[in-house]
Amino acid sequence: MSTTHGIYRIAILLTLGASALGLWCLAAWAQVKPPNEDGPALAQAAPAAAAQTNYLGVRRCKLCHDRDPKRLATDKSADELRLTEYVQLTEFSTWYQHDKHAQAYKVLEGPLGKRMGEILKTNVTQDKSCLSCHATLHDGKLPPESRRFELVLGVACESCHGPSRQWFVPHMEPAWRVTPTAEKQKLGMLDVRQPLVKAKVCLSCHLGDAQQDRVVTHEMYAAGHPPLGAFETQAFLDQMPPHWLPLAQKNERVRKQLKYDPADLPAAKTVALGGALAMRESLKLLAASANDPHRPHPELARFDCYACHHDLRPDGWRAKRNPRGIPGRPTLTEWPHSLVDLALRQASSTKDDYEKRRADWKAATAPLHAALGAQPFGDPKLIGSPADKESSAGRAIAFLDALIGELDKRPYDQSAALASLRQLCIPPAPNDFGVDFAVDFDSARHRAWAIRSLYAGLSPKPANDSEIGVVLDELTTGLRLALPPRTASDAKTKGGEVEAALGDTLKTLASYDPAWFQSLLKKLSELLPKSP
Ligand code: HEC
Ligand code: HEC
Ligand code: HEC
Ligand code: HEC
Ligand code: HEC
Repeated sequence: MSTTHGIYRIAILLTLGASALGLWCLAAWAQVKPPNEDGPALAQAAPAAAAQTNYLGVRRCKLCHDRDPKRLATDKSADELRLTEYVQLTEFSTWYQHDKHAQAYKVLEGPLGKRMGEILKTNVTQDKSCLSCHATLHDGKLPPESRRFELVLGVACESCHGPSRQWFVPHMEPAWRVTPTAEKQKLGMLDVRQPLVKAKVCLSCHLGDAQQDRVVTHEMYAAGHPPLGAFETQAFLDQMPPHWLPLAQKNERVRKQLKYDPADLPAAKTVALGGALAMRESLKLLAASANDPHRPHPELARFDCYACHHDLRPDGWRAKRNPRGIPGRPTLTEWPHSLVDLALRQASSTKDDYEKRRADWKAATAPLHAALGAQPFGDPKLIGSPADKESSAGRAIAFLDALIGELDKRPYDQSAALASLRQLCIPPAPNDFGVDFAVDFDSARHRAWAIRSLYAGLSPKPANDSEIGVVLDELTTGLRLALPPRTASDAKTKGGEVEAALGDTLKTLASYDPAWFQSLLKKLSELLPKSP
């Protein structure tokens, strides 16, 4: 153990040179003197309490995680020293040059951000209600004054991996690889290799999390914020772009060390867990906004946008579907419901078990349905708080908590993934609230992303892979499943790709026809291998 340890230190020093040497000194020093990492001079200038932070900042990570990806093919020395067999150390470059998260703050300074600021009468580059999702806050607070400038780096490493002060030194040791998730978490690291952990991190910004003050309100939407539509965790991970190598692609020794099981499909697990989590988190948001003392109920952003914002067309598909709930009343955002059934199925061992779970889910959501039906936008007192397990929202949330716990323990193999794929191709059954459910645009995207993610994880692929591919491509184009690529390779530019693509996405939405989607699902279900 201590020899490997030694190899690591030497390798890091040799490969990364003087900057790393300085870093090791810093690291050692940080351990001795935790509170003021900016040094004695700054500590004198700034009050000690204000400088106290568990976040070391992305510049620290860059010292080691900034290997040139282009040199990977030619530079084998690091691999020989086992320095990069676990992580490639190119993560910073991928993030900085290709990942939109690196420009998440810059878009606040762009034309749309500026306009939103004028309409909302706030300085969006300093407002925590924007920065909570567009930059790296320090446990929900602005960084200390001396480090305020780091906000411009947007959604950086520690936004997703957790504040690093306590895990910074131990995390470079090979022993850390096999440290249990709970131990990593104790030191502040979010073990995003785990499907549950990563789905929760992503959804906290891409759906919202009231506890972390990450909420897009209707006011923000009306000021121009792009709608946060469907978010299927695995599909978004694949398009982030990935700065990691999946375990399946790491070398034999690492796979053995981490007990790699080729039968286990982490991507499929992420789809099911992410689906159940999206529902849970959206109910938490609903309950939080229903009882927010600072804002009057209702928060329209928790309801189906297109219940209010759609063209009234006499022959439109919306008018033809069965009313969801009481006719004429806005219903909850639809897409988070769309993978709950998949999660229920995955957790069930038999058909009877599945039927029972469906009935239990219906029972668990019945009080919430009543609370939402009691008056337009629901009765906030009846909706209740997420923490109160007896409240109507609390009951549904507790049900999903238990389901998520079960799913997390279950393996997900090829046959389970195939069963999930087949299930996703069956037109959705009556929804949780007991009425027919036409698949709206966002739900169709959510479902189609899930299908693509599950299919991509299959290995080997079915014999008619190319025929299936044609249908998947049709879904990809028809629903605009490919997110816009980042156009500039420099995080100093103002970004804005999401806004630029919005016009086309909304056009696709307006011409979207559920019958077309159902027909593609049918085609796909005929092509997929039948169950044994
Ligand atoms: C001095 C070099 C160095 C610095 C600085 C550094 N890392 Fe690392 N990091 C490594 C090495 C080496 C590994 C792989 C260790 C191994 O092979 O087991 C690693 C692994 C990781 C992993 C994978 C851990 C796991 O549990 O799977 C993450 C995530 C990570 N680093 C994030 C960061 C972040 C975020 C920062 C900045 C706060 C940072 N690192 C700073 C050297 C460094
Ligand atoms: C938006 C969220 C997000 C940001 C920002 C982010 N990461 Fe990650 N990172 C992830 C996720 C998720 C994974 C694991 C994916 C998996 O294993 O399926 C990961 C994996 C890693 C790994 C393991 C790589 C491997 O090959 O196993 C390292 C190292 C790492 N990140 C370092 C960094 C560094 C350094 C930064 C900042 C420059 C950073 N990350 C920024 C989400 C993020
Ligand atoms: C701290 C908040 C935050 C977290 C955590 C976060 N994101 Fe993001 N993400 C954003 C913001 C803000 C943007 C928009 C940036 C832009 O437009 O430049 C974004 C953009 C993206 C995009 C591009 C979207 C598009 O429409 O082009 C993808 C893909 C993405 N995130 C995936 C993920 C994944 C996967 C995770 C979890 C591993 C994650 N994000 C975690 C805030 C976050
Ligand atoms: C209960 C009905 C309702 C719901 C649900 C609703 N809105 Fe609105 N929205 C309105 C009304 C009313 C206005 C003000 C219209 C006006 O000023 O002409 C508005 C204004 C807007 C505007 C300003 C532009 C415009 O058309 O006037 C945007 C953008 C917007 N909403 C987006 C959204 C999004 C995104 C959602 C879903 C997350 C949503 N709305 C949900 C009723 C609703
Ligand atoms: C709950 C997290 C969250 C909050 C709060 C939030 N945003 Fe965003 N914002 C996002 C995400 C996620 C995206 C990317 C959406 C997508 O992929 O479609 C985004 C996109 C944007 C974009 C478009 C970026 C582009 O690439 O075109 C702008 C501009 C923006 N947000 C500004 C703001 C402003 C201003 C505020 C505060 C008033 C704010 N946001 C609050 C999560 C958030």
